[in-house]
Amino acid sequence: MGNLMRALEFSRAEIGRVLKGGDRALDATCGNGKDTLFLAGCVGPEGRVFAVDIQKRAVEETEKLLASHGLAGRVTVLQRSHEELLDFVPPPLQAAMFNLGYLPGGDHGVVTRPESTVKALEAVFSLLVPGGLVSVVAYSGHPGGQAEVEEVQEYLEGLEQGGHSVLHYRFINQANHPPQLFLIEKL
Ligand SMILES: C[S@@+](CC[C@H](N)C(=O)[O-])C[C@H]1O[C@@H](n2cnc3c(N)ncnc32)[C@H](O)[C@@H]1O
Repeated sequence: MGNLMRALEFSRAEIGRVLKGGDRALDATCGNGKDTLFLAGCVGPEGRVFAVDIQKRAVEETEKLLASHGLAGRVTVLQRSHEELLDFVPPPLQAAMFNLGYLPGGDHGVVTRPESTVKALEAVFSLLVPGGLVSVVAYSGHPGGQAEVEEVQEYLEGLEQGGHSVLHYRFINQANHPPQLFLIEKL
């Protein structure tokens, strides 16, 4: 595979560079909770993480993982759709992570959808401080995945460059649809 960072690894490296103790962050698709756990470590005891997922199983797995690391106290885990996040996440946010697609080990039919993903991104941008960072790890291999990648990309390409800086990071010669990453910095 070589030494280049994969999409998820690169997203954590960049988010970790931005977040400081006491910050506030969102995991918009908490799944099994690994990104939530990472964010909880970054924001420290004075910070706050909001973690959302539409599936009960994901919320339970995330709560379990946090509890096993003694970090449940700094995270609000909610079974909600991220497109409604303005109803339950107050500003400000320093960072947000999206990991699209289906829950690993869960029902592969429950996937993120482009319309709600784009709505959630718009909502996140309205909560983000200048210098704040959003990562979107996206997958094209499952049904609907490629369409979602394209719609997210089209939306992000349309962001005015004075307001946001957008990076697209992906391997272009690998088989089996490796995940790709969009990083968006609010200016
Ligand atoms: C690839 S998984 C996330 C993996 C997770 N970051 C981890 O580290 O385990 C994608 C998750 O998005 C969730 N999801 C799908 N639609 C959603 C929505 N509208 N709002 C919030 N979560 C959603 C799925 O239930 C699934 O758990």
